[in-house]
Amino acid sequence: MTFPKDFLWGGATAANQFEGGWNEDGKLDSTADHLTLGSRTSARRFTEDFEEGEVYPSHKASDFYHHYKEDIALLGELGLKMFRMSVNWTRIFPEGDEEKPNQEGIKFYRSVFTELKKYNIEPLVTISHYEMPFCLSKKYDGWYSRELIGFYLKYCKVLFTEYKGLVKYWLTFNEINSGILEGDAYFSQGIYSSKHKDMGAGTTGLNAEEMEAYKRSLQDDLKKQYQAMHHMLVASAEAVQMGHSIDPEYRIGCMIAGICQYPYTCHPEDMLLIQRERRNVFFYCSDIMVRGEYPHYSRRFFREHDICIRMEEGDAEILKNGTVDFYSFSYYSTGCVSSQPAGETTEGNLIFGVKNPYLETSQWGWQIDPRGLRYFLGEIYDRYRIPMMVVENGLGQHDVLEEDGTVHDPYRIEYMKKHIEAMSEAIEDGVDLIGYTPWGIIDLAAASTGEMAKRYGVIYVDADDHGNGTYNRYRKDSFFWYRDVIAKGRKTE
Ligand code: BG6
Repeated sequence: MTFPKDFLWGGATAANQFEGGWNEDGKLDSTADHLTLGSRTSARRFTEDFEEGEVYPSHKASDFYHHYKEDIALLGELGLKMFRMSVNWTRIFPEGDEEKPNQEGIKFYRSVFTELKKYNIEPLVTISHYEMPFCLSKKYDGWYSRELIGFYLKYCKVLFTEYKGLVKYWLTFNEINSGILEGDAYFSQGIYSSKHKDMGAGTTGLNAEEMEAYKRSLQDDLKKQYQAMHHMLVASAEAVQMGHSIDPEYRIGCMIAGICQYPYTCHPEDMLLIQRERRNVFFYCSDIMVRGEYPHYSRRFFREHDICIRMEEGDAEILKNGTVDFYSFSYYSTGCVSSQPAGETTEGNLIFGVKNPYLETSQWGWQIDPRGLRYFLGEIYDRYRIPMMVVENGLGQHDVLEEDGTVHDPYRIEYMKKHIEAMSEAIEDGVDLIGYTPWGIIDLAAASTGEMAKRYGVIYVDADDHGNGTYNRYRKDSFFWYRDVIAKGRKTE
């Protein structure tokens, strides 16, 4: 296997799925804190008030808030070079529009970053990962309001100045392109007016006619989502410029949901469809964030979907001057698109697609495709030619904690091994891949369902979906295997 000596071997988490301590030390509720536990077959629900007896997975999550020293020591033992984590916006600005930040929140992350430094682990900080102050969502309709740009930049300024010297790598938004997917308006952009529709939650019990009306309302939401996305892209570009001016050493990247799809057949209609899909859902945001301008194909898309984005003077220049330093994405699985009604469908990260007959699926129905990772790394690098990171990848699976504290997870080792081999091939192909942070390196709550049972980690957390358990940490077999890979990887030229 070929990996450069300074390759950033890592692991990834996100505050709302991992940190817990949701209302401690001045923190207030975030958009994520209002989502209940769901499952593969029942969508998570938004609730305005917290219902007695209902589970809200982000409230305790894996309780990193009270375990961070022990967790970071384990990551040190694993030999990690990079730890991807996010800051809970509500820990720094509990309401989002107040003047002064919450000092307790600032102190917490300083302790975390200092602890990481002790083990020579570089943090990769996602500034906003599927959460924002609930107050900003309710009062302003989230990112639909242009005012959010100012609140976000105020928050960024605190992070960039407070943690100068402790953090070098930043991501402005997690999976920013998820914001333009149908039914992700609240989850991804905090759009309060769409709060009951996320992840299919709004479809329960609708008859055919109501279903049609519901679909039409999603189309209207899409217009709002594109406007919100414009605000996020401007905010991101401004944050990049601000970060560079505060510390020229900062490396600030985009983070794209790897909606990686193939044409189902070689029919020319399928080829045209895949081109359109890739552009519209996969490349749209990164084309703007890497190249600094709206892509040529967006004009036709906007015209056909009756989308008219309100831009202000100076926005184009901001986008131009705030391009990112590196590209990062999540990669779990692939699916197919077909211009004709075709076969079975498959689940996957954020979207459903047509099943690929050549691939196996995980317990949660996501198709496993390591060779696709090599292919997509090549495609993306051809397009952008900037350094790349795979900042999420992994197998969400049930694990069994044995009585002696071991967890045997050969399936995860197999998954990671094949994906690491694919990355090695991509590097051989010439891709400038600088880091890999597999998802949920320590078990955490799933984003789509809120389940703890869907485990990704090489470190097991003894907690179930309902928050029962000791919350003790255990090394899985994959822990020792990954530790070896990292140790060997470092020695390879
Ligand atoms: C990505 C998100 O969509 O996929 C993560 O950035 C998420 O937050 C991950 O956890 C895996 O999805 P899930 O639903 O299995 O947790």
